[in-house]
Amino acid sequence: MANKVGKSFGSDNHAGVHPAVLAALAAANDGDAVAYGDDEVTRIATARLCAAAGARSAYLVFNGTAANILGLSLMIRPYEAVICADTSHLNVDECGAAERVLGCKLLTVPTADGKLSPRLIAERLTGRGDEHRVQPRVIQIAQVTELGTCYSLRELRELREFGQQNGLLTYLDGARIANAAAYLGCSLADIAACADILSFGGTKNGALGFEAVLVMSEKLADGAQYHRKQQMQLASKMRFLAAQATALLADDLWLANARHANAMAARLADAIAGLPGVGLAYPVQSNGVFAEISRQQAFRLGQDWNFHVWSEGADDRCVVRLMTAFDTSAADVDGLAAAVKAAVVSRET
Ligand SMILES: Cc1ncc(COP(=O)(O)O)c(C=O)c1O
Repeated sequence: MANKVGKSFGSDNHAGVHPAVLAALAAANDGDAVAYGDDEVTRIATARLCAAAGARSAYLVFNGTAANILGLSLMIRPYEAVICADTSHLNVDECGAAERVLGCKLLTVPTADGKLSPRLIAERLTGRGDEHRVQPRVIQIAQVTELGTCYSLRELRELREFGQQNGLLTYLDGARIANAAAYLGCSLADIAACADILSFGGTKNGALGFEAVLVMSEKLADGAQYHRKQQMQLASKMRFLAAQATALLADDLWLANARHANAMAARLADAIAGLPGVGLAYPVQSNGVFAEISRQQAFRLGQDWNFHVWSEGADDRCVVRLMTAFDTSAADVDGLAAAVKAAVVSRET
């Protein structure tokens, strides 16, 4: 990453590791422990994850893509399909992992804001019972979505009910589930209750690197440990993944981290939304601000600041993604907001 003036707003993955996570890793490094998860730290971490989400079992993996693949692998057969938003991380940014590893088809749906609805899903339910057609089996949603938006609990419950009525399982990509819980003011269990399987993201929340696959029913967990091993996600030194989870779950650090990141995004949105020529492409409901500015402004801003150009329009406009993290400070945000303002003003002169 090029060395720019301030904190990176490119991704919550650009942030370092939370000190409490580092301390937990150091503590877990005291002596030996049995490998492959048969150790005390892993037992504690998985029990706490299950208790927080109301899940039956939890499986730690190395990253978010692996969590999505492991979760989905417990739900579908080769001729079954996954319905997801066309903007979803699963569809756009996982290099076809689902297609390659699971060999399944993704039935993508265009959405206004990254969120699926029963009406949008219903449009993809054609061909059921026709042996020539792939059979829809899973609704894949992300909470937070790839566009920074959140489903309300009511929307999640409607999706869940629709799925149950139509023989569809629900997989929830929770790479940023902490930010969603913070935004909605709800518990992990409130969100998890609307899924059959979900992931809990640690990495973007201040971990060094771990995600958990949480399985809500005993039936779906059948064979999960074998799938994880085949998918090369069984960590030999599992206690170091587990220690990160225990650190984030202790005193609800995961929620505090997410609340802080969300608050910084809200502060940034407040500061720049009213500037001339600056718009918000999506409502700010997490730790991501998707701002619409001109390409020239984006170029100017990019000289000094790290962010992601999300999409470019046919005209001179583009959408930039500005992400905050657990360690983004108010001064970082104010510095970026001042730079956006300067870019806007220099455009006008
Ligand atoms: C919503 C979502 N799901 C999954 C992932 C995948 O995570 P990883 O890059 O750790 O595989 C990401 C990463 O950015 C994400 O934003």
